[in-house]
Amino acid sequence: MDNFNFYSPTEFVFGADRENEAGQMVKKFGGKNVLVHFGGGSAVKSGLMDRVTKSLENAGLSYVTLGGVKPNPRDTLVYEGIALCKKENIDFILCVGGGSVIDSAKAIAAGVLYEGDFWDFYSGKAAVEKALPVGTVLTIAAAGSEGSGDTVITQEATGLKRGAGSNALRPRFSIMNPALTQTLPAFQTACGACDIMAHVFERYFTNTREVEITDRLCEAVLLTMVKEAPRVIKDPDNYEARANIMWAGTVAHTNIVGVGRSQDWNSHNIEHELSGFYDVAHGAGLAVIMPSWMEYVMPHNPMRFAQMATRVFGCEMNFKCPEETAKEGIRCFRRFLKELGLPINFEELGAKEEDIPALVEKFGVGDGKTGGFMPLSAEDISNIYKIAAHAKV
Ligand code: NZQ
Ligand code: ZN
Repeated sequence: MDNFNFYSPTEFVFGADRENEAGQMVKKFGGKNVLVHFGGGSAVKSGLMDRVTKSLENAGLSYVTLGGVKPNPRDTLVYEGIALCKKENIDFILCVGGGSVIDSAKAIAAGVLYEGDFWDFYSGKAAVEKALPVGTVLTIAAAGSEGSGDTVITQEATGLKRGAGSNALRPRFSIMNPALTQTLPAFQTACGACDIMAHVFERYFTNTREVEITDRLCEAVLLTMVKEAPRVIKDPDNYEARANIMWAGTVAHTNIVGVGRSQDWNSHNIEHELSGFYDVAHGAGLAVIMPSWMEYVMPHNPMRFAQMATRVFGCEMNFKCPEETAKEGIRCFRRFLKELGLPINFEELGAKEEDIPALVEKFGVGDGKTGGFMPLSAEDISNIYKIAAHAKV
């Protein structure tokens, strides 16, 4: 195991009806004048926005609202949010929504306290050192942004989707009522499930040896998803299954399952080019990319894939040929995603094979290599897109 620091300062407020405590929580963390940031309308339609703003009023807090965050959140709304926060002297941002709303809020929170263009954080020109405090009321189990220091924004003019990270961006609190996720369309629930599993796999496929504790924590999250995701697709109102998935989504991405080991993240970066280019859901893009990446890099360490196959998908170990077990595990994962209703190849996602050179170009690896498990060149990335283009169960 490698040396590590683990920092996860977010207070998680979990359970039924907890959104009614939003005002008290903002107050606890010193907010007085709040920006309530939300998405395209689901939170208004469900009555959640009314409950949250009422809770702010009951706590004696003033607020303004900014809605309209789209999935794959855009820089254009971030600029608008920064200007609004400055004009209204906002001292706390409360997000009501999923990863897109939270990531947009984090970008605004950092941008308000920065003299330059906030995109500098995403283009790698500057690091986030300070940000307004952010709290969340989570409505979808997926991105894990409610407990992470990360934010991913798409630049509208170029379609470039880029991330930034800093401990200053970790939410002060996250309110997590599993019942709020019962209104999700099945497809969004499935996308979320895939993203949660992908966050674990990015950490599970490591070159660091002797990491039993994090291996076992990863497997616990993966086994939970294998059991609970099909259950909520069949029975969307199942509170207990929703609760297990919601907490799994947070555990998957605070980095508690990834400390002390090298991590990969190539699947995510390869996927971000797809969701930036075609404006598709991140979890759907991952369903196409991640099993394809697995097929391509499996020869780097077949035993690690065989471990995943036996422990997560219950495959029988073929001691004479571990590669066969590894391949069977990858097949199980892809079949599982397909059965959840997710796309598994370019056509099903709405992507085109002829765009692969442009996608690789946008990825921008140049003559170098990237990734922490098996470093990939531009040619490798192109090969993975080609596998993804034609993938079948
Ligand atoms: O906008 P509304 O109307 O709310 O609709 C949303 C949106 O269309 C809908 N939705 C959310 N909660 C709902 C609901 N519909 C009905 N009932 C509810 N309770 O679901 C759609 C997707 O929402 P979004 O916030 O985009 O989903 P998700 O949480 O998957 O976030 C995806 C974004 O997070 C980024 C992704 O790249 C993508 O841009 N990620 C962020 C990470 C982070 N900050 O740590 C890590 C991830 O790997 C990921 O890259
Ligand atoms: Zn993700």
